[in-house]
Amino acid sequence: MKGLILSGGKGTRLRPLTFTQAKQLVPVANKPVLFYGIEALVEAGIKDIGIVVGDTRDEIKAAVGDGKKWGIRIQFIEQEAPLGLAHAVKISESYLGKDSFVMYLGDNILKSGIKSLVEEFQERKPNSLILLTEVPQPQMFGVAELKEGKVVRLVEKPKKPMSNLALVGVYMFDSHVFEAVKAIKPSWRNELEITDAIQHLIDQGYDVHPHLVTGWWKDTGKIEDILEANRLILESITGQIEGSVDSTSQIKGEVIIEKDVLVRDSIIRGPAIIGAKTEITNSYIGPFTSIQDRCKIIKAEIEHSIVMEGSEIRDIGSRIDESLIGREAKIYKSPPKPSAYRLVVGDKSEIGVK
Ligand code: DAU
Repeated sequence: MKGLILSGGKGTRLRPLTFTQAKQLVPVANKPVLFYGIEALVEAGIKDIGIVVGDTRDEIKAAVGDGKKWGIRIQFIEQEAPLGLAHAVKISESYLGKDSFVMYLGDNILKSGIKSLVEEFQERKPNSLILLTEVPQPQMFGVAELKEGKVVRLVEKPKKPMSNLALVGVYMFDSHVFEAVKAIKPSWRNELEITDAIQHLIDQGYDVHPHLVTGWWKDTGKIEDILEANRLILESITGQIEGSVDSTSQIKGEVIIEKDVLVRDSIIRGPAIIGAKTEITNSYIGPFTSIQDRCKIIKAEIEHSIVMEGSEIRDIGSRIDESLIGREAKIYKSPPKPSAYRLVVGDKSEIGVK
């Protein structure tokens, strides 16, 4: 069985971060979201993965490499524009050949991985296996209608959802899916929808098996979902200290402190992760915080947040909470006079002031 990870697309809901970075490379607990997908496939025994890439191809290729670090083979498949999930399948036919495959959306994270699901697919041998989960806002997702345990209808982001069962971004197919992706027409948003392709399989009498996911699942397409995924992943970490922590600092709970980190006169309350070469001085780092490499946090308080590579936070009077701070950002106290905010803010940024 092969893997197909979709890592093209635009990421408009994650602006401004995605003006300069692929959405699948945003870090969750200091690891790119995309790597959770790769690792889930590797854990399920898959050794060949095709990654569909678009405008952000160079960055994704540089981050992922050829797969050696996971002991697998990775091939990149170029998609000229984000023309839909079923379009991504269509252009991958020559890579996938006659093999069955798992399609994994590169911005999804599933807590329990997919090993048992791949086994279920291999044992039952349906033509397709789809994952469903109950969600409070089904209109944001592909939605499934079941009758007597069978999938009868799938609609992409319906205005009036027929159920609260959303399609999770992991699908398994045998090669009959290529008939479907060739038969369907683009939707109103000009995309070849995977929901339409699966509906086509159902209408042609193929066996589409639904599996209800009970553990947590996150589509990290929005900022609040990234922070939530960060919280959920950090909840399960085990602390490990490799950097240096001075005697006036306190580390409580599960905290990972990577190599060449300096912690001075500070309190870190886990779960939290501090990336290599970061400096934390005279500060408080609260639970559910991920700080990437080469940051400086000086006289500041922060919790429930993500701070990306090379950023600096200094002398901030109040606590930073539920924030996502991009790469090499600087947040500091302005001089007392004139009493004014001094800002250099990129397009589509969001800043809340008191
Ligand atoms: O996360 C689950 C949802 O994912 C499902 O419930 C929906 O049925 C499914 O359509 C999808 O909806 P999204 O609106 O979240 O899809 P998004 O455009 O974010 O694309 C998902 C991933 O696929 C993302 O990593 C980008 C990539 N992609 C997307 C398109 C449209 C491609 O590689 N090529 C594409 O043409």
